[in-house]
Amino acid sequence: MEGRLIQTVFQDQLQNAGSHSEVLFSQRMLLQEIILSAFLLFNQKQRCKSSRCKYSALRCKYSALSNLVTTLLSLPKINISMRPENLLVEIKDFILYITINRPKSLNALNIKTIVELDDVFEEYMYNDDVRGVIITGSGEKAFIAGADISEFADFTPDQGKTMSENGHDTFDKIESYPKPVIAAVNGYALGGGCELAMACHIRIASENAIFGQPEVNLGIIPGYGGTQRMAELIGKGKALELLMTGDSINAAMAKELRLVNHVVPAPELISKCEEILRKIFSKGPLAISKLIQCVNAHYRSGGYVGDSYQTEINQFGQCLETEDFVEGTSAFLEKRKPAFKGR
Ligand code: COA
Repeated sequence: MEGRLIQTVFQDQLQNAGSHSEVLFSQRMLLQEIILSAFLLFNQKQRCKSSRCKYSALRCKYSALSNLVTTLLSLPKINISMRPENLLVEIKDFILYITINRPKSLNALNIKTIVELDDVFEEYMYNDDVRGVIITGSGEKAFIAGADISEFADFTPDQGKTMSENGHDTFDKIESYPKPVIAAVNGYALGGGCELAMACHIRIASENAIFGQPEVNLGIIPGYGGTQRMAELIGKGKALELLMTGDSINAAMAKELRLVNHVVPAPELISKCEEILRKIFSKGPLAISKLIQCVNAHYRSGGYVGDSYQTEINQFGQCLETEDFVEGTSAFLEKRKPAFKGR
């Protein structure tokens, strides 16, 4: 009964916990309760022993033990209930929807939001409930209006370097994510917002989207990979022009420059992303993840991946070890649709 009470109280508390710090507080409280249950278990055992009532002793032990087990069983639920403060996160039909939710500052990316993004991507990297991701911004005006200027305005050079390093880590994680990630750009995608969109595998923009790297207006340069990814996507000359002038471009121009894959009316933005993801979901998931790795290898061949052609050769060979390969080729020969299992 005590265990059930503890579990109910903490589940309620966790479900109502709106912020990370509240969840941490609940975790601490839960640990205290576990220690208390363990103490009760020990204590009841002693008491029953002294009264020499074997039946009662057994019942007490059983009850204290069941309290402890029930409380321990509620532990994994903590992670499920953890809610980020600046993101809305939802999973529906194998799609993880992440919405940057700081509308008052046009979804500006502060450090906490980047940490939360990193955590969410990490959490679902190998979770079979998620086969692809859509990232968007809350409201109708902005995807992300850049890094949060009010936060880093008085940073020291070392703090700036750390901020940039951490942003790079998270954006690299997104770029090399083993599942397709689509940016649904629903308004301003400036500075870090444009950089986040560029780290995604595919970008779909609504007609009102605006892209740009206006950092030079603040006397700085992009710090989350913008100088590299923009040149990769639209070519060095045009990238340097946009980076040096700080000019913003509209969605039509972004499409012309191949910064975005498609431009659609705002109400169709998410459904267009879903349509693309569904098509990708019908293919072999392992092949998709290897494709992402191979294409990225070309742009990062100075790094650990080594020669990018060799990456493709190795990954192609590994594809032939998979059940999906057997299923795909058999389905073709048997004139039926393949049913890939990601194995
Ligand atoms: N960091 C922190 N706050 C930001 C922000 C950012 N990058 N971008 C917008 N905001 C805040 C504004 O300060 C304002 O807050 P307030 O209501 O408390 O004053 C709120 O969001 C709305 O922005 P506002 O400038 O009033 O909207 P607008 O429609 O007039 O202009 C932008 C929209 C996007 C053109 C303009 O906000 C802007 O230039 N933002 C900065 C873009 C930038 O330089 N990004 C790169 C940062 S490294």
